[in-house]
Amino acid sequence: MNKRKILVTSALPYANGSIHLGHLVEYIQTDIWVRFQKMRGHTVYYVCADDTHGTPIMLRAEKEQISPEALIARVHAEHLRDFTGFHVQFDNYYSTHSEETRHFSEEIYGKLKVAGLIAVRGIEQLFDPVKNMFLPDRFVKGECPKCGAKDQYGDSCEVCGAAYTPTELKNPYSAVSGATPVTQSSEHYFFSLSDPRCAEFLRQWTSEANHLQPEAANKMREWLGEDGDNNLSDWDISRDAPYFGFAIPDAPNKYFYVWLDAPIGYMGSFKNLCAREQIEFNAFWQRGSTTELYHFIGKDILYFHALFWPAMLEHSGYRTPTKIFAHGFLTVNGEKMSKSRGTFITAESYLDQGLNPEWLRYYYAAKLSSTLEDIDLNLEDFVARVNSDLIGKFINIASRCAGFISKRFDGRLVSGELYQQLCQTVNERFPGWRPDLIEKAFEEREFAAAVRQIMKCADEANEMIHALAPWEMAKQPERGDELHHACSLGIQLFYLLSRYLKPILPGTAKQIEAFLNCESLTWPTLQSDQPVSDLLLPAGHSITTYHHLMTRIDTKQIDALVIANTQSLTAVHPTPAPIRHAGKQQHAVMPIAETINIEDFGKIDLRVARIVNAEHVEGAEKLLKLTLDIGSEQRNVFAGIKSAYDPEQLKGRLTVMVANLAPRQMKFGCSEGMVLAAGGGHPGELFILSPDSGAQPGMRIK
Ligand code: 2FM
Ligand code: ZN
Repeated sequence: MNKRKILVTSALPYANGSIHLGHLVEYIQTDIWVRFQKMRGHTVYYVCADDTHGTPIMLRAEKEQISPEALIARVHAEHLRDFTGFHVQFDNYYSTHSEETRHFSEEIYGKLKVAGLIAVRGIEQLFDPVKNMFLPDRFVKGECPKCGAKDQYGDSCEVCGAAYTPTELKNPYSAVSGATPVTQSSEHYFFSLSDPRCAEFLRQWTSEANHLQPEAANKMREWLGEDGDNNLSDWDISRDAPYFGFAIPDAPNKYFYVWLDAPIGYMGSFKNLCAREQIEFNAFWQRGSTTELYHFIGKDILYFHALFWPAMLEHSGYRTPTKIFAHGFLTVNGEKMSKSRGTFITAESYLDQGLNPEWLRYYYAAKLSSTLEDIDLNLEDFVARVNSDLIGKFINIASRCAGFISKRFDGRLVSGELYQQLCQTVNERFPGWRPDLIEKAFEEREFAAAVRQIMKCADEANEMIHALAPWEMAKQPERGDELHHACSLGIQLFYLLSRYLKPILPGTAKQIEAFLNCESLTWPTLQSDQPVSDLLLPAGHSITTYHHLMTRIDTKQIDALVIANTQSLTAVHPTPAPIRHAGKQQHAVMPIAETINIEDFGKIDLRVARIVNAEHVEGAEKLLKLTLDIGSEQRNVFAGIKSAYDPEQLKGRLTVMVANLAPRQMKFGCSEGMVLAAGGGHPGELFILSPDSGAQPGMRIK
């Protein structure tokens, strides 16, 4: 196989806001593509960083009374936590506020200057005489010059849609201090995009070698104009002090505009990775490089990535991107995400509510294509689709077959003649399971098509299991071989589906690797003369005991998520409020208990436990009966969490139990331990604890 070397980026999120489900469309899309390429054995590096510079970040830090450096450090940790929570696995997640990015910004700027592509001229801008700063368009407000609507931003009117410059606003005021701005002139530095060299290069670059998707290429042609025209204006790349960014060399009080160093942050992050892992930076960035460079972005920032960025690279002597992959926006229930409707959902709140990140990864994959079309997260459809496809079709295959393999065949799949029969069945009945179509769809970022094909296979597997009805065979002792064959076939098909789904469901894939006792699920590859059966687990392969791999979504969980994200319009604080989760109830804080020493604490044996079963207890008002697997054994525990949890929702989950609590005889049976839960005292306000992913039943918690 031709081993490719690929560098992939996602857009750098600003360091002053939380990651939300809209952002995640892009990071999940990129992560799936990267995981797919890595599984195929290509060398792939996926880098990203926080976009840390600019006026909004400077002002936000000021408002919080901390330094910009402290703000960006805090947000960096939050962003990385959220991405990790959704299994977005960067090879490096860095910051644009880094020496590497400073170095390349200065170098690229220097080369553009030597090439005669930097111009300096004075411009007039609105200035805040109280804050002593020039005001970016979004920090000036006033009355729309077209329709007269009040409190409109300096660049466009949200009421009539008119676009204008801030100096055209009537009765303008500074959104920072409230002062009336004055017009003041200052010298700015420009990248001369109007230079014929830039226009010529961009006209060629945007139309050749599929650098852009067809719709994006059309848009660029509109912006560039026809041959001979020159529609491109020079690009203002400097900002005056005070500004949080990199100082422009030899230009006192001038800083690079955030959008100058943001894409250079891709190089900075990669350079940082290269130093850590001894990768040759130049092999990826020098002109003429045969490596591939892809930028995944939202369609709103095409202009920067399809025009400014390639022009900067080209005229400073670097290679240009192989392709720019732009995607559409996310709508929720068919509308723009909205804080008042509770559909502006943060990544943190989704995870905090105990929702499985892979539900969202799957749903997005099922909707994503290679176009710029928007995608809709319809919350009702989300529940229905995940439950029907992932639980009803995919996981169901394993759960229907695994028990028989463990109980009746000592965990072994068929071997010998039965294995030959199994291979023959697979080759005859499932020719559509060859990887070709699915692989092509993943490669082309047609994830919805890949998912459709995979689910078509899952349907075929279920139809077959249904027709064979192993549960009937199990009732007839003389049909042991048939039962063994049918269940082995189910598990083998499940194995193959898991390999196809691994780029989308990496967390579940890890659990499946343990269940199927295989080191790593790899991408299935077949030569044209090889049969599908060459992709199966070997004859007589042993699997381990089946534990539930994924729970169904309960609509109540989605209702709770929307409530947690609903920001009441009356609850807006004019000054920064103490940090707490939006929309969540304030709860009374209980006083801290009496101090204990470490020996006291050491007496409590806390263990990671998997809830293998959860059920209602007849006659008990508050209790659920949980069966907990703690590695060495299973325990029954009666937990008073009925008001907050549906048993179905708990099955398969990991939690924490006190394993050395003396057993207690209760009216309904013996309780052999206790699960830990946080509670605010209100009915139903109970939260059982979960360890981070990767923890295994039986691990001691210290
Ligand atoms: O639009 C944004 O959110 C920017 N922070 C994206 C920057 S992408 C790259 F150029 F850095
Ligand atoms: Zn207007």
